[in-house]
Amino acid sequence: MAKGMQGFGYAFCLLLSVLLNILLVANILYGGDGEWRLRELKWSQDAAAAAETVAALQCSGHGRAYIDGKIGDDGITPVCECHNCYSGPDCSLLLPDCFADADSGDPLFLEPFWVQNAASSAVVVSGWHRMSYSFPGSSNPGSAYFSQELENHIRKVHAVAGNAITDGKYIVFGVGSTQLCNAAVYALSLENSSSLSPAKVVAKIPFYPLYKSQTEYFETKYYEFQGDPSLLKNDTDAAGNVIEFVTSPNNPDGHLRAPVVGGPFARAIYDRAYYWPHFTAIPAAADEDLSIFTISKLTGHAGSRFGWAIVKDKSVYENMFMYIKAAELGISKETQLRALTLLKTVLQGDGRGIFNFSYEKMKSRWEKLSQIISQSHRFTLQEISPKYCNFFEKIRGPSPAYAWVKCLWEEETNCTTVLEAAKIIGRAGSMFSAEDRYVRLSLLKRDDDFEQLLVRLRELVAIEDGAKTM
Ligand SMILES: Cc1ncc(COP(=O)(O)O)c(C=O)c1O
Repeated sequence: MAKGMQGFGYAFCLLLSVLLNILLVANILYGGDGEWRLRELKWSQDAAAAAETVAALQCSGHGRAYIDGKIGDDGITPVCECHNCYSGPDCSLLLPDCFADADSGDPLFLEPFWVQNAASSAVVVSGWHRMSYSFPGSSNPGSAYFSQELENHIRKVHAVAGNAITDGKYIVFGVGSTQLCNAAVYALSLENSSSLSPAKVVAKIPFYPLYKSQTEYFETKYYEFQGDPSLLKNDTDAAGNVIEFVTSPNNPDGHLRAPVVGGPFARAIYDRAYYWPHFTAIPAAADEDLSIFTISKLTGHAGSRFGWAIVKDKSVYENMFMYIKAAELGISKETQLRALTLLKTVLQGDGRGIFNFSYEKMKSRWEKLSQIISQSHRFTLQEISPKYCNFFEKIRGPSPAYAWVKCLWEEETNCTTVLEAAKIIGRAGSMFSAEDRYVRLSLLKRDDDFEQLLVRLRELVAIEDGAKTM
């Protein structure tokens, strides 16, 4: 009897659960407003259809069509934009003598991750989306211009990656980290503005060229670019007002760096563009006075132009914010919405998906490249030693964003021209204030670009012995 009752109880529960599921699915399909009609898209239907139409164009896997791209002669069909080295209406033709372009740091290696996550990363924007200059009910100056929801998600992504401590710190948004670099120089230079001489802005060679070009372009009476810290005069400058860019990991060589200038008035701007598990071991969470991050190298969306700075000191935060306000009156609300949507996708599940994807991809690229260069007596790559990574909880090998190639033969003082003769475009060492015996090759671009780079490098290394005897 008791057994019979128990069986009846199980059957009842099963039936209840099936009924509940049916109700749930019906609610999703037919709407939750009490009316049993098909939930239909109203105004977003055409926009969604247009987005799906361009996305459906395959372009032979060697190109893409975009909603804001060219339209064919029929006035309707979107035109494929072919990847470098591919041509034809459907991008199926591989151009025979094509150069491998490894110049720019365009992080398109992440494109497949977003194709895999197409549904959650799509953004629908109404014609009346946040038309105002500011967010409503803003309690502090920053929150009028910066989305609080986006700020919360940035803090969460750092907590998952374990690459920065954000508790108790301020966050400033900028038009890419590019804008924040100068905002930081400006704000830090005001910290010691009573000093009679302008703050000296320094960066250890090899350094990312923007620090020099931008600081010189926007120079004020408060700061000037000096160059390598070794150029500081011991007696005056070193004890004085110095602002050091510390790029860690460094662009171009991928090394983790610490400041080289000390002293009571030296201040550091940590450029943490590449401090993600994609590109480096994360030995500890960054806990600095001023660190700058960018969505460009986290999600690959360089075109969205969005970066953020994590700032400890309130007065530095306020001066950076004033800079952004004077330059732009805040950051585009569309950009902030897109960044928020992307970060929500990044945080899906356990939030580790993008890091696993990008680390595997960059590690495999580095291994393939190293394997080719290991056959060479003409070129070497930078050495990056394995390190313990808090994110992966293990010792892990290198997966840098760039190869910093050195030409070893004495007579080959210009490595860029050596590679160019072999149909490889890199960025000259002198761009990073280093010798032209070095050249930077980007490993961040699409698979097509990377494959082409491997093809050209294999050819170059294969003819090496002949080249020496010529
Ligand atoms: C070290 C470093 N900092 C900053 C930037 C600029 O990034 P963003 O796209 O955020 O302006 C780059 C871009 O390549 C970079 O390499």
